Amino acid sequence: MGKRKKSNKPISVRFAFLISGRGSNMEAILEKIEEGKLRARPMVVFSDNASAKGLKIAKKHNLPTETFSPSDFVSSRAYEEALVELLKKYKVEWVVCAGYMRILRETMVSAFPNKIVNIHPSLLPSFPGLNAQKQALLHGVKHTGCTVHLVDTQTDNGPILMQKVVSVKNKDTVEKLSERILKAEHSLYWRALKRVFAGYILDGRRVFFSK
Ligand code: GRF
Repeated sequence: MGKRKKSNKPISVRFAFLISGRGSNMEAILEKIEEGKLRARPMVVFSDNASAKGLKIAKKHNLPTETFSPSDFVSSRAYEEALVELLKKYKVEWVVCAGYMRILRETMVSAFPNKIVNIHPSLLPSFPGLNAQKQALLHGVKHTGCTVHLVDTQTDNGPILMQKVVSVKNKDTVEKLSERILKAEHSLYWRALKRVFAGYILDGRRVFFSK
């Protein structure tokens, strides 16, 4: 057998999107992949909500879509077992949550240890959970933003990968602030994926990227 040529190209990771709604973060990431700026292979888009708008975006990008909901199962554990089985069927290594509105439980988190990523519209650990932009505005912070983090079984709690700051303006409403944060999310998420897919070291809660 002849000697194989050594490739310097990074390995293209196989990943799945989990969505529940609009899918704008997913679309922004897909565009970067198509532009050749992020080397990664989206294998499937899963939604727990069959009418999620993001499913249409997935189809537009020729990606397989799959949907089922916890209400189809006897327990949330059975639901997650089915989800793990589905993702394994697509030989997925990484899971990218993009507006997936459920807390992941032990079944999913242990099936993909430190390989599930999420984006949240605040500078964590401030304002986890729902309505993060409204929480920030009501609290009166001058700067908020978005955070890409690893997922564990607690809400918006895993180790932080990257953050982007968005300043709060005097005339901000929840809508205006949310719009600017969403723009920041679109510019941050693919960059964070690029770094985390290339490898990282976890020291306690601190993440160090190899590149
Ligand atoms: C984003 O604000 C994200 O941070 C949060 O849910 C929203 C999803 O938006 N987790 P989209 O579905 O990506 O448009």
